[in-house]
Amino acid sequence: MKRVLTGIKSTGQPHLGNYLGAMRPAIQMTKKLDQQESYLFIPDYHSLISVHDGNELRQSNYMVAATWIACGLDPDKTVVYRQSDVPEIFELNWILSCFTPKGFMNRAHAYKARLQDNEEQGRSDLDTGVSMGLYNYPVLMAADILLFSADEVPVGEDQVQHIEFARDIAQKFNHAYGDILKLPKPVISLAKTIPGLDGRKMSKSYNNHIPVFAPEKKLRKLVMKIKTDSSAPEDPKDPSQSTIFDLFKEFSSKDEQLDLAKRYETGIGWGEAKQALFEKMNEELAPKREVYEVTMADIDALEKVLAAGAEKARVVARKLLGEVRSAIGV
Ligand code: TRP
Repeated sequence: MKRVLTGIKSTGQPHLGNYLGAMRPAIQMTKKLDQQESYLFIPDYHSLISVHDGNELRQSNYMVAATWIACGLDPDKTVVYRQSDVPEIFELNWILSCFTPKGFMNRAHAYKARLQDNEEQGRSDLDTGVSMGLYNYPVLMAADILLFSADEVPVGEDQVQHIEFARDIAQKFNHAYGDILKLPKPVISLAKTIPGLDGRKMSKSYNNHIPVFAPEKKLRKLVMKIKTDSSAPEDPKDPSQSTIFDLFKEFSSKDEQLDLAKRYETGIGWGEAKQALFEKMNEELAPKREVYEVTMADIDALEKVLAAGAEKARVVARKLLGEVRSAIGV
C-alpha cells in the first residue's frame, strides 16, 4: 500500500483560500483508504521561521487541527500530528544536512526570492532577514518526508522544488549507505489559487480573505463585499470574469453551475448572485463550523488527538531513524 504524506502550515485562522486550496483536498486525499495510508501533519517548526509569538503559534496549530477534524478527518484512520511532537524529524534533519550540498540551498526559490527582494530594496547585505531556519527550510522538509518513507507528497506547484531536493538528498545518502531512504514523488494537487474579495488571490496580507468558519452573519456580510462591476441587473454577465462565480463553482454541482451561468446570461443582480453563493457556501460550511467550534472549545481533547497521532508517527519514525543511525555509525 502506498504512503501519502503532506504538511499544511498553520497561518492563524484558516480562510477560504487555505480551505479550498489545500485543506479540503488534503482531507479528501486521506479518504482513499483502500488505496493508501495517509499522513497529515502541521509543520509548526517551519512556521517558527516567521511566527515569533508563542501564543499565536500554539493557537494557529489548534485552529488547523480543529479545521481538519471539522472537515471530517478521521484521526483513527489518518496519522495526524504536529511536527514539533516528533523529535526524530529534527535528528534526521541534522543528519540530512550533512548530505546536502550548500549549493542546493542557494538555489532554493524562497531563499532566492529574499535575496532578490533585498537587492530591489537596495540593501547592501543581500542576506538581510534570512535566518538559518529559512535557509535550511528545504532540509527540514526533506526530513519530514524521508523519515516516513513517503511514496507520494501532494503539494502545490510552488513546493515541487522542495520535493526534488528531498529526492536529491536521499540519493546522496543512499549512495553512501545503500537503499535506506525512499525517493518520494511530488503530486501536484494542492494549492490552486482562490480569488479573494477584491478578485486578487485570497490572502491575509491583502486583507481580502474570508475566514472559513466565520459566523453565519459575518460570512454573509463578507460575501456581500465581493467586488463587482457597475453593470445593471438586466445586463448579461460573463461567469468566467466573476469572482462570485469562481467561488460558487467550489461549492456547487455542475447542474447548479449551469443554472447560475444561465442566470448570468439573462441578467441577474449582483446582490442575488452573492446571495446564491452565500447559500451554497453556508450549506457546506455550517455543519463543519459547528464541529469546529465544539473542537476548539475542548483543547484538552484536541491535545489528546494530536498526542495519539504523534505516538503513531513516532513508532514509524523510530524504526527508520534506527536504521539511519546504525548505517552512519552512531
Ligand atoms: N513547505 C510546505 C508549504 O509551505 C509545508 C511542508 C512542510 C510540507 N513540510 C512538508 C509539505 C512536507 C509536504 C511535505 O506548503
